[in-house]
Amino acid sequence: MKVEFVKAASEAAIVVVFVHEDRVMTPAAKAYDRKTKGALARAIGAGRFTGAKGQTLALTAPAGVDNPQILAVGLGAKEKTIADLVLEAAAGAAYHAGAKSGFTAIAYETEGLSADQAARIGFAARLASYRFDRYRTTEKPEAKPSIATVQVITDAAPAARKAYGPLSAVADGVEFTRDLVSEPANVLYPEEFAKRCKALEKLGLQVEVLTEAQMAKLGMRTLLAVGQGSSKESRLVVMKWMGGAKTAAPVAFVGKGVCFDSGGLSLKPPGAMEDMKWDMGGGGAVAGLMCALAGRKAKTNVVGVIGLVENMPDGNAQRPGDVVVTMSGQTVEVLNTDAEGRLVLADALWYTQGRFKPRFMVDLATLTGAMIVALGNDFAGIFSNNDELSDAILAASAATGERTWRMPLPDDYDRLIETPIADVKNTSGPAGGSITAALFLRKFVNNTPWAHLDIAPVAWKKDSKVPTVPDGATGFGVRLLDRLVADKFEG
Ligand code: BES
Ligand code: MN
Ligand code: ZN
Repeated sequence: MKVEFVKAASEAAIVVVFVHEDRVMTPAAKAYDRKTKGALARAIGAGRFTGAKGQTLALTAPAGVDNPQILAVGLGAKEKTIADLVLEAAAGAAYHAGAKSGFTAIAYETEGLSADQAARIGFAARLASYRFDRYRTTEKPEAKPSIATVQVITDAAPAARKAYGPLSAVADGVEFTRDLVSEPANVLYPEEFAKRCKALEKLGLQVEVLTEAQMAKLGMRTLLAVGQGSSKESRLVVMKWMGGAKTAAPVAFVGKGVCFDSGGLSLKPPGAMEDMKWDMGGGGAVAGLMCALAGRKAKTNVVGVIGLVENMPDGNAQRPGDVVVTMSGQTVEVLNTDAEGRLVLADALWYTQGRFKPRFMVDLATLTGAMIVALGNDFAGIFSNNDELSDAILAASAATGERTWRMPLPDDYDRLIETPIADVKNTSGPAGGSITAALFLRKFVNNTPWAHLDIAPVAWKKDSKVPTVPDGATGFGVRLLDRLVADKFEG
């Protein structure tokens, strides 16, 4: 999607004007009402359109203007300043209303709005326009979106363009993640995932890809055990962005990259398995985040580590009851091979804290179905040993709309993952399943300030109500953690 900041809409473009609740027109809406000799106000007054959040109303072929359509979009109740998320939602809703109109451009009139707000509109339209149609070869052209260009109309085009720069990098990151998560597992297996990360070196990232032999040498036996039933080799990706002082400790992000989770010998039933190509959503978010940070040249040091495996059953697969030695030296009884994400992360977290001594570490993982039971489909769970970090993530959530909720990590629940056979077991009963998974991870962070985000509820959406997040892969985590880095660790 092309995004331009220009002085006037091209003739072919749908013109978008914002309207507040109770049919209160913005300056741009008023200007178009005058041009149409009151037709816009009459249209707005004629039906149910009131300017409520997300409502749209199209006035097609209006007299008095050259453009094919004027599209009014609601902002909700008028506030002193329009909040970024309100503006994003309205801009996204307008994009969707015009997407399949047959017109090829959409132009947002922003009179009275700041350059930052103009940039925000371009960002929202781009996020809303994401579509994964690489494998749709027979879709009729008239079923595809027609909008190819987004114009943001502003007198402050240079300032808006400048403000859009970093937002565009974040959108690149979100798209990178959405592409990775959307790809089927026959295409995107660990080596291919690693290859796509390696391609990000063009942004100035340093990318290392560890092979199975290298991981074996480091003692990452739990990660390797998850992958040993697959014909695809496992990988560990280490991405570095050095935008800060040479010697400054980095912040670290660690992702679960299970490219397909069949459950292993603890095989999932078909209904639960069909979604499991997106079990690499945490790793995908880490890759997209690094893409965003490098793209906007973040002024801090960041490392991203992604544990990449495919969890499959075969004659070489790990068995329920196996005992495996982790890189940390702690032993794990693997009672359920479907609780594999924590096994991958155990070694990835231990490696990350040991090698990089990060200021803090955040992991992202589609870790437990129980997280969906606990929080529903719209929140990720935060589990953390550090209140400051957890609060900072909650603040970044409020700013970006990527919703999170803090969950407890009670010490005494550690008894639920005790076993007489080894230091820890990888499952417990269904009660508090997300908590016991997080407690398992805590054994591998070694006092580093750390937060675990269980993104099982939010990595993929089937009924999105958020215009900037179309159905399918959401890219959850990229905006959230980009914001965390920007607000807490830069400047
Ligand atoms: N990848 C799944 C968790 C998951 C389930 C993510 C549904 C997204 C949607 C994870 O590896 C898993 O299988 N977890 C098990 C844990 C259990 C065996 C202790 C689960 O949630 O059932
Ligand atoms: Mn699993
Ligand atoms: Zn999994």
